[in-house]
Amino acid sequence: MNDPTTIRRLYGRRQGHALRAGQAALVEELLPRIAVPEDGALDARRLFGDDRPLQVEIGFGAGEHLAGQAAAAPGTGFIGCEPFLNGVVGALGHVRDGGLDNVRIHMGDALEVIERLPDASLERVYLLHPDPWPKARHAKRRMMNHGPLDLIARKLKPGAEFRLGTDDPTY
Ligand SMILES: C[S@@+](CC[C@H](N)C(=O)[O-])C[C@H]1O[C@@H](n2cnc3c(N)ncnc32)[C@H](O)[C@@H]1O
Repeated sequence: MNDPTTIRRLYGRRQGHALRAGQAALVEELLPRIAVPEDGALDARRLFGDDRPLQVEIGFGAGEHLAGQAAAAPGTGFIGCEPFLNGVVGALGHVRDGGLDNVRIHMGDALEVIERLPDASLERVYLLHPDPWPKARHAKRRMMNHGPLDLIARKLKPGAEFRLGTDDPTY
């Protein structure tokens, strides 16, 4: 996480309140089982053991949407990326409570994971309410600038979907 490229892309808090014992146990026991491998090329087979369709959620917050989508599409592999530890804990709780076996989690920069996936490999990417930086001077910090968008476009299959949710008129 000390790579300057990564830091450039990580925005917002990394941790809020201290974890309770049950939450710490999720991070210690469940997260290692479903974490995206740290190095090397990624694809559905490496992540899920078969060639299922893949979807990515960038910045899943506390993971409600990620878990809801994963529960609704058990044959699809979901890769959720979120640098905020307390958010990751929320998602882990949903994965455990829902008995979901089609979710992998990366606690860090989504772009670092997306870069490692094959081109034209994703059927959907979600970016929901991404950036609490509406002012023009913050534009370079936004996920929604050309670098990330070009990367995401390259990784989407033909006809795939990029779902952006925002209530910010500057988008
Ligand atoms: C405004 S919140 C929205 C959370 C959630 N999508 C929602 O709609 O409630 C933006 C989220 O993006 C995460 N985030 C920021 N930079 C990120 C990055 N490079 N990769 C993945 N997530 C990131 C933040 O930690 C934060 O949880």
